[in-house]
Amino acid sequence: MKQINITTTFSVFDNKEELPEDVKNLMEQAIEIRKKAYAPYSRFRVGAAIFLDNGKIVLGSNQESAAYPSGLCAERVAIFQAGAIYPDAKILKIAISATSDERPVTSPIPPCGACRQSISEYEFKQDYPIEIYFMGETGVVYKSDSLKNLLPFMFDKNFL
Ligand code: THU
Repeated sequence: MKQINITTTFSVFDNKEELPEDVKNLMEQAIEIRKKAYAPYSRFRVGAAIFLDNGKIVLGSNQESAAYPSGLCAERVAIFQAGAIYPDAKILKIAISATSDERPVTSPIPPCGACRQSISEYEFKQDYPIEIYFMGETGVVYKSDSLKNLLPFMFDKNFL
């Protein structure tokens, strides 16, 4: 028996003011769209802003449903919208902010597993890493240089 250790790396910014100007702007757009989330059931609001290599920004917020699994996370609302509208553009950066109507969220909220898998599809397709920045409502911002840091040992088309 042997063990395999997989390490993963993130950068940590003390707060969004520390981000490079373009990323701070992207995060502010994620925060604004987060406020428009349709989240009457969880009361947990997420916003995602995607920056493309054609200069466009595509936004998404979580959309819930009374039939719970029929809703969709902010990240997938945004990334599927980007894929639908700009199928040939590369996704360069994603900024994510989350908060709750019930309590302040001060720690970074990472994308869920299903969103990671969905984002990985686009990173593979474009063969270019996607920078992912995520935060709560306030507090530190985590940066991943690629989706791969968030989903080590991922399933991809090469296994098919
Ligand atoms: N949610 C997101 O929008 N993104 C995530 O990565 C995790 C969860 C949403 C889904 C649901 O509307 C609410 O947050 C609570 O899970």
